[in-house]
Amino acid sequence: MCENCGCTETNQKDDVQKNSIYLPEVAKLTQKKKMTPFDSFFEFQLKDRPLGHLPGQFAEISIPGIGEAPISISSGPSKDNTFEMVIRNVGSVTNAIHALEPGESVGVRGPFGTSFPMNNLKGKNLLFITGGIGLVPARSAILYAMEHRKDYKEFFILFGCKDPSQRLFTDEIENWKKRDDIAFHETVDRKENFPWEGNVGVITTLLPKAEKLDPKETYAIIVGPPVMYKFVIMGLHDLEFPDEHIIVSLERRMKCGVGKCGHCQMDSKYVCQDGPVFYYHDIKHLKEAI
Ligand SMILES: Cc1cc2nc3c(=O)[nH]c(=O)nc-3n(C[C@H](O)[C@H](O)[C@H](O)COP(=O)(O)OP(=O)(O)OC[C@H]3O[C@@H](n4cnc5c(N)ncnc54)[C@H](O)[C@@H]3O)c2cc1C
Ligand code: FES
Repeated sequence: MCENCGCTETNQKDDVQKNSIYLPEVAKLTQKKKMTPFDSFFEFQLKDRPLGHLPGQFAEISIPGIGEAPISISSGPSKDNTFEMVIRNVGSVTNAIHALEPGESVGVRGPFGTSFPMNNLKGKNLLFITGGIGLVPARSAILYAMEHRKDYKEFFILFGCKDPSQRLFTDEIENWKKRDDIAFHETVDRKENFPWEGNVGVITTLLPKAEKLDPKETYAIIVGPPVMYKFVIMGLHDLEFPDEHIIVSLERRMKCGVGKCGHCQMDSKYVCQDGPVFYYHDIKHLKEAI
């Protein structure tokens, strides 16, 4: 209730203003780099605080007068006071973000959503299965696991994209390939006219690389385009992975990002709040999930 006259309206406004989940904070673009013809890397810095995210969470990025878009946070949680994103230029907001130059600003709300359960996975093998821009949120967990390498046993990363021009974090991937405590395998759907000596085929063609992992001791983390999930999960079932050991990060259309507008609703779940990270076991019965 409003302290002055007892009405509720003023009080609600005050609550909204105090509650930062509705109010964007200003963040400065500190670095920008083209990664593929459509995807660019962005580093942002909030004015007064680190973002404080967990691996797998997202933030709402806004451009005044244009709109807001949910974008995954790609940096590891321990990164100084900046955070990283990779953004595909597909429409009005993402186009406006791509037009920014270092020194210019965006609005940021978040971090929001569930995260990869890195604590629960301690002592187990990790198998990341990532497709295209799905490497972006997965990278936050990959960097976390690399930093806490002793907490996990075998560490496998499978990455697939449409063609060699779509590969993300190419320099970083070269370093991952050189590490002897990580098994990194990648594939492209088609090599087109690119000079590519690597594997050609969809991401499921890499699953045999993980055959040596005991499914009872391994958690598979899947992040990629919607079409990928069904086939990867079928492949994991063939390898006898239990559904409790399959973790997915789902993407749905979102507006508020905080469980208020219903845009991201999937039966009884709000992907923005109950997800985007789910144990497959918890959502496999939802018709719209996979
Ligand atoms: C949790 C979450 C994390 C995300 N992480 C990233 C990320 O790391 N990097 C990134 O580039 N994108 C990410 N996205 C997708 C991103 O939010 C959309 O591409 C963005 O909202 C498009 O906004 P726009 O105004 O640029 O495009 P619009 O002008 O709104 O639309 C452009 C086109 O994209 C379609 N579209 C818009 N939003 C979606 C959507 N969510 N799903 C499918 N089609 C859509 C529209 O129908 C239209 O055809 C994420 C989405 C979610 C929900
Ligand atoms: S985006 Fe509004 S409820 Fe999820």
